[in-house]
Amino acid sequence: MIIASNFKTNYTRGATKAFIKEIQAFVANTTSKQQVRIFAPFTALDCFDEVAHLKVGAQNFYPVQNGSFTGEIGFEQLEEFGIDTVLIGHSERRHILKESQNFIAQKYDFAKAREVEIIYCIGEPQEIRMQGIDAIMSYLWEQFEGIDIHYDKLIIAYEPVWAIGTGLTASLEDIEEVLTRLRDKLSAPLLYGGSVKVENIDAILHVKACDGVLVGTASWNEKAFCEMIRIADTVKK
Ligand code: 13P
Repeated sequence: MIIASNFKTNYTRGATKAFIKEIQAFVANTTSKQQVRIFAPFTALDCFDEVAHLKVGAQNFYPVQNGSFTGEIGFEQLEEFGIDTVLIGHSERRHILKESQNFIAQKYDFAKAREVEIIYCIGEPQEIRMQGIDAIMSYLWEQFEGIDIHYDKLIIAYEPVWAIGTGLTASLEDIEEVLTRLRDKLSAPLLYGGSVKVENIDAILHVKACDGVLVGTASWNEKAFCEMIRIADTVKK
């Protein structure tokens, strides 16, 4: 399964390095089978030691190799550190940073052309959730506009916006209902994200169509993130 941590706008360069070292040691010592991903802040990217199944990725990039885009990070700057996994479409970028579906699709095509792994995030806000499953699914399908769902390095993360950073987790039935409907049309691995923590990861990973999790807040503690990886190792799929 895929167990991913999204640091968002947290951790300094030094603290990220210490965090990654600890997770690398845990994964190596326990010979964990999980595909672990750590989406670190740009300022903390570096050439980290390679540990089986563990990759450090980028939370964002501007879809150019390099150029004049003041304040942005192009692919050349990611390639310097061997980054080959990126997040695209996170709800914080869609809603707070106002990224349009058109721009998101442009980033997707750019990353795809560079053959990197993409964790593509989708999720509905609370007002859509209130309208029921048909409204949720049509909202989610719209987030696939311009996205090649057959890309072989695609991983999809379903993260209901109302469950992110709020402590509110979608119920197991809600997660199962959405992931099962996504699974009908998509062959890519499916992750769930939204207030995943040590206490609920086991149940979430037991949801049939769930291939892993994308964790924010609860993963920012090394011990808790290691514990989540350990629990994932006990789940038979
Ligand atoms: P939380 O785990 O803090 O809800 O964040 C989820 C998320 O946005 C991961 O990308």
